[in-house]
Amino acid sequence: MTQKKKAPKTPAAPNAFDYAHKHPREIVWMSQNTNHIPVSDVIDKAILKAVKNREYNLYPRSGGVFGLTDVIKKHVELPEDYRVLLTNGGIEATYILNRALLKKGDEVICTDPSFMPIHHQIAISGGKLVEIPVYKKPWKLSPDTIRKAITKKTSMILLIDPLNPLGTAYTRPEIKEICEIAEEHDLLIVDDVTYRDFSDPVPTYKYIPDRTITVYTFSKQCGLAGMRIGALAAPPDIMEKMLPYNTNVLSVNILAQRAALAAMECIDSWLPALRKQLLTNQRIIKDSVDSVKGCFLPVYPSRTNMFAVDIGRTGVNPDHLQDTMLYDYGVFVRSGNYVSKTSGRNFVRVSFSVTQEGAERFASAFPKAIAKLRKK
Ligand SMILES: Cc1ncc(COP(=O)(O)O)c(C=O)c1O
Repeated sequence: MTQKKKAPKTPAAPNAFDYAHKHPREIVWMSQNTNHIPVSDVIDKAILKAVKNREYNLYPRSGGVFGLTDVIKKHVELPEDYRVLLTNGGIEATYILNRALLKKGDEVICTDPSFMPIHHQIAISGGKLVEIPVYKKPWKLSPDTIRKAITKKTSMILLIDPLNPLGTAYTRPEIKEICEIAEEHDLLIVDDVTYRDFSDPVPTYKYIPDRTITVYTFSKQCGLAGMRIGALAAPPDIMEKMLPYNTNVLSVNILAQRAALAAMECIDSWLPALRKQLLTNQRIIKDSVDSVKGCFLPVYPSRTNMFAVDIGRTGVNPDHLQDTMLYDYGVFVRSGNYVSKTSGRNFVRVSFSVTQEGAERFASAFPKAIAKLRKK
């Protein structure tokens, strides 16, 4: 007979996400690069109208609601012949492309730190990760580091631009050179432009449209992370290869589509104000970080809605800082260990697409939290 195991005497520390989701109104949510600054009331109106019309009774049109893929193409300035597939967030776009385009042993050049769920997708698709450490100047890949990493097995470069978590973006000459390398070595580039709307980086399809797969999302700029809607775009031949891996033959959530369409149709009316607020929030956070001995921002200003805050010289463990900021001050930041295998102990990631009061709460809490943990 098997004996029942005794429950442990001390309960585990509460899971940060469970805790934050139980107290959403009390928390300043700076941990997932989501956007908490209201952008436009057309979003709520579009969702409510779709609910009122009970559009959810139907499977949505397979190509998406009329106008949505066109508005994406126009806004992202995708090449004329590109095809666009709607997905459950950018994360499903990367899943589909990795599954479809990688074969066993293919090497993929990427960064550490990075948005690690994509690395997991590469690994389960049989790809081999070639993670270039970028937690040092220039805080991003360079054409030279890419060249050095290339082998006969390299098949793809994962370019996240601007980069999560550092906030670095590539310059036009860098993009041009990276594209030349891809051409020379017959590589594909995954241009993950999740954060493009925060600063207009240079897309790789400007130089190599036939080898670029673009990943776009509405989660961050539009504040629609909970809606789970994004897009995968590529030239027709690459799209043909990816379509058998499309899990959305019945399309994606209709309310999400209505919200995305409404937001995109008037993006020029709300994006400038959002960007302005982000610059103000960055400055508020920078002043606070600069006031703490041993802390600095590797990249400032950030080209997106987040940056890494380096705490390496304080001796404070970023996991402990995450907990203290959350449980003692109600500010939810993310330990660097989530986004980096090699340098995560040196930083926390802080996203600042929160209200100004939220940024100010961080600014007040951060020095106190570091002081508290330093003493231990
Ligand atoms: C670089 C990058 N790509 C893709 C995603 C996926 O986002 P979503 O699925 O919400 O579009 C994220 C989310 O943080 C990200 O940082």
